[in-house]
Amino acid sequence: MGRHPCRTLLRPRAAGAGRARTPPAPLATDDAAVRDVRVTLQASGRTLTVSTGDSLLEALEAQGLRPAHGCRMGICNSCACAKLDGVSQDLHSGEQNADPVSALRLCVSRARGDITLDL
Ligand code: FES
Repeated sequence: MGRHPCRTLLRPRAAGAGRARTPPAPLATDDAAVRDVRVTLQASGRTLTVSTGDSLLEALEAQGLRPAHGCRMGICNSCACAKLDGVSQDLHSGEQNADPVSALRLCVSRARGDITLDL
């Protein structure tokens, strides 16, 4: 079995990779509701503070991490990883999920509170 794409946080990014496509239109955000939350990356033993106004992919990249990704639109599943705990929100549907999930797509999800990912 190969290495899971979630475990490649420090993988070098190919020049221009993932930049040719347009990301999904962000879900309308009430600026008053945007706040900082804690993201725990269980596999790598890191804890970060990110904004609830950003997708998890954008938030992790802003912290200097390079999670595996491709389309940045929720299509290719390259960015999928397990959410072990916490509330996430799908940026397309607005649906919030408090259950652990095996394939949270980082590019189209944001944290709605402290969250733990298998990264
Ligand atoms: S990068 Fe393609 S689904 Fe997230």
